[in-house]
Amino acid sequence: MKKKDTKGKAISVGIGTTGNCNLSCPHCYSRPLRGYTLTLEDVAALIDGKNVKSINFGTGENILNPDFVAIVDHCHDRGIKLSLTSNGYGIIALADDVLRKFNDIDISLEFLDKKLQDDFRHGNSWDFVGKSIEKCKRLGVEFSIATALMNVNYKEVPRLLEKAATEGCNLRLNVFKPVPKAGITKFALTYEEFWEAIGLLFSHGRLISCSEPIVNAMLNIPPIVPQSPCGMSSIRVHPTGQVVPCVYWSEGDVHINDLVDSFEPAFQSKSFRDARIIPEWCTKNCDKVNVCGGGCVSRRFLSGDINAPDRYCPIYHKKTIPAIKVTHAKGSKDLVHSSYLCTLIFEGV
Ligand SMILES: C[S@@+](CC[C@H](N)C(=O)[O-])C[C@H]1O[C@@H](n2cnc3c(N)ncnc32)[C@H](O)[C@@H]1O
Ligand code: SF4
Ligand code: SF4
Repeated sequence: MKKKDTKGKAISVGIGTTGNCNLSCPHCYSRPLRGYTLTLEDVAALIDGKNVKSINFGTGENILNPDFVAIVDHCHDRGIKLSLTSNGYGIIALADDVLRKFNDIDISLEFLDKKLQDDFRHGNSWDFVGKSIEKCKRLGVEFSIATALMNVNYKEVPRLLEKAATEGCNLRLNVFKPVPKAGITKFALTYEEFWEAIGLLFSHGRLISCSEPIVNAMLNIPPIVPQSPCGMSSIRVHPTGQVVPCVYWSEGDVHINDLVDSFEPAFQSKSFRDARIIPEWCTKNCDKVNVCGGGCVSRRFLSGDINAPDRYCPIYHKKTIPAIKVTHAKGSKDLVHSSYLCTLIFEGV
């Protein structure tokens, strides 16, 4: 079974304008992309004249692209909602008026201890994070702490939520994806660790948004985007110019040069068609399939069998999950990250 057509939609775009970085984190999917950079002309040709809902800049540390400020200006002038994911280095370096052009900013942090954080990220991560948080607060820019949820840090969740509350920001969590082609697999959560982490999040925090399909399905959370947004309403552009349905997809079969007139060639390409596959087991056996679609498609792709349901699915694996009570944050927030990848965003408590 395939999901529906994608034509005519406003598209969320993720652009890695560079694969270069000032740090060297052991969990990072983008390491093979070092040395590649997109120009202002590349980005303009990609977005001009198309229905672009939002753009997030991620993948490497974008300030290291000499065209980055010109790219931000170009996209902002076209009225596109922008966000940036950074280790803090770029946020410190950007001028105040450029930072104000972002709808929301993500600052990456995995540990609440300077030594652990700096040792993990191989550099001055802790100071970059501290200074960039202060800068976002001073400028009144909406920001989140972005945490890769791994087997080495998932027990930090309550403290990360406390930190977010103290700083007056959100906590966004990307479940770690093992990317064999980048040589990074060892931080993956087991089934039990995944659901323990989800339990910790919901028992200590209030949910702003969830686009992890398996969590929505199991906890009866109405999804912002049914199933996974990848392959349906978002595209990712690597600094090589390759276009992929999700950042963790190392290689695509479409290049930005193929998208001069429309995004449609991307949605028709093999990798995007693959990203829309729903496992047959799910369509035959599960009444949650319209919400879940088989779970995070990248997790399934990276496991080597896209036709197998999500590794964290209790139904398919005949396992249990802990009792989890969902508490929603009051009001809603319009964050670029909410609906363009599988992620969880919480209000700190
Ligand atoms: C690739 S980085 C690029 C932006 C910037 N350099 C930074 O560190 O925030 C974007 C986010 O992806 C996360 N990340 C990197 N590799 C990951 C992986 N294999 N699984 C899940 N998240 C990952 C990082 O921790 C970071 O929060
Ligand atoms: S700072 Fe970001 S891009 Fe750089 S290595 Fe770490 S996660 Fe990857
Ligand atoms: S059986 Fe498939 S569709 Fe149902 S919850 Fe599990 S992964 Fe999702």
